[in-house]
Amino acid sequence: MTQYLAAPATGTATATGTPATGDRPGWWRDAVIYQVYPRSFADGNGDGMGDLAGIRSRLPYLAGLGVDAVWLSPFYASPQADAGYDVADYRAIDPMFGDLHDADALIRDAHDLGLRIIVDLVPNHSSDQHEWFQRALREGPGSPLRDRYHFRPGKGEHGEEPPNDWESIFGGPAWTRTKNPDGSHGEWYLHLFAPEQPDFNWNNQAVRDEFRSVLRFWLDMGVDGFRIDVAHGLVKADGLPDMGHGEQLKLLGNQVLPFFDQDGVHEIYRSWRKILEEYGGDRIGVAEAWTPSAERTALYLRPDELHQAFNFHYLNAEWDAAGLRQVIDESLDSMRPVGAATTWVLSNHDVVRHLTRLGGSADRARAATLLMLALPGSAYVYQGEELGLPEVLDLPDEVRQDPSFFKNNGQDGMRDGCRVPIPWTAEGPSYGFGTGGSWLPQPEQWAGLSIESQTGDPGSTLELYRRTLAVRRDHPDLGAGDAVEWLDAPEGVLAFRRGAFTCTVNTNAEPVELATVPGQALLSSGDYDGSGALPADTTVWWTA
Ligand code: BGC
Repeated sequence: MTQYLAAPATGTATATGTPATGDRPGWWRDAVIYQVYPRSFADGNGDGMGDLAGIRSRLPYLAGLGVDAVWLSPFYASPQADAGYDVADYRAIDPMFGDLHDADALIRDAHDLGLRIIVDLVPNHSSDQHEWFQRALREGPGSPLRDRYHFRPGKGEHGEEPPNDWESIFGGPAWTRTKNPDGSHGEWYLHLFAPEQPDFNWNNQAVRDEFRSVLRFWLDMGVDGFRIDVAHGLVKADGLPDMGHGEQLKLLGNQVLPFFDQDGVHEIYRSWRKILEEYGGDRIGVAEAWTPSAERTALYLRPDELHQAFNFHYLNAEWDAAGLRQVIDESLDSMRPVGAATTWVLSNHDVVRHLTRLGGSADRARAATLLMLALPGSAYVYQGEELGLPEVLDLPDEVRQDPSFFKNNGQDGMRDGCRVPIPWTAEGPSYGFGTGGSWLPQPEQWAGLSIESQTGDPGSTLELYRRTLAVRRDHPDLGAGDAVEWLDAPEGVLAFRRGAFTCTVNTNAEPVELATVPGQALLSSGDYDGSGALPADTTVWWTA
């Protein structure tokens, strides 16, 4: 039996007869949302850097893939100290990506194709080149403009020590000392990320008003929602208390910290929810919130707050049946009390691509995807995972741009390896990414992984994604609900029922004989041959 048991997808969003999620109320509850990293998706002007025109020209590919919505990482005016997560103007497009006309055309075309657009909002910090920060620097200590950020005098006899012991996520102290307009040493300012990313002070009313206005600006442009960067970081504990110990990075995500997941953030999201609802049309807010537990994440998703949060607990799970079952149960259990849909994610622009992270096997990566897409709720797909792209591990130092790479004790600094521009064609200067080069070098093997090379090959990862998304669309019961019914299964195997479907996942490195065949095999991530033996690292979907 071939790898893909159902008929090959035809490549159009509505080919299977089921309309795109379109105007369906609550569309986001089971939506598959595709993350586009604008620098690396498609280059419309041949300068080696992806852009909005490039994305726009390839929207039909995304509609054909069968996703419901596209989340665009930041494209705003930015000096690019952190690949656009350092925003200098929240209402302008960086010239390297295009302009507002391009954004408008992109949003309109996406809607015509039945795709929703979610933009990235970066409210925890701005760029140090943002007009507010520059004015605050110029006006000096005591200026009310400084209260929009966290400026503080230093400790020590001459203010030579940072105001507290917080560390930047990218490494080094979370404080940088300023120079006064006369050139003397001045106050320090807080930046939880790079020094070029000063943190806003969310106790300042002007900051709150500004972001409500930015939300409206993009809602007026027609966007369907916001992915909220560092949603857990906006409010800091009163008085910015010391953490009192080192090794901060090890604690991230494990316990409540004075700068993350403070209860005060929720009031902000309640006010944003009102704005989203004013606009109607089911516009959503998605929290990037690293919290100590799934229960803490659920607080962001109370009915009057945001709609979704990335499930990083799932992303961090290893390829182990018992562990996966536990995190699936915990995720579903934690969302039920707030009535939010659970989300699932395996890859994004900040982590090692899941093919590599789960051990380097394409079979396993495909099995993980088929498991994710059988779970109730919404799933996030990161550009290139549908091609089975591995992490690029051998980028030369001189091409790297991730700011954390240049620090030695922060985040691992390896984020460029998942940001390499994706291959569209088997040949061409940047494998069809554009007519010019590519801002990060692409491995030669990517020719064979290009969209062109995989299209029409029923054994390819791309066709597996297309087929799976088409089946999911034709069977809304797959993504619906908030529970899975676990079935007895051999060691290392997950088996669960979802409506009329059963999903079996063999996480073992060896084939496993199933005691009973759960039905008729519909889709398989690997070479399932129709017998009772489930191959190693393989997921199969069955119908009764
Ligand atoms: C984004 C990162 C970024 C950081 C600072 C994150 O969570 O996903 O790419 O470096 O926020 O904005």
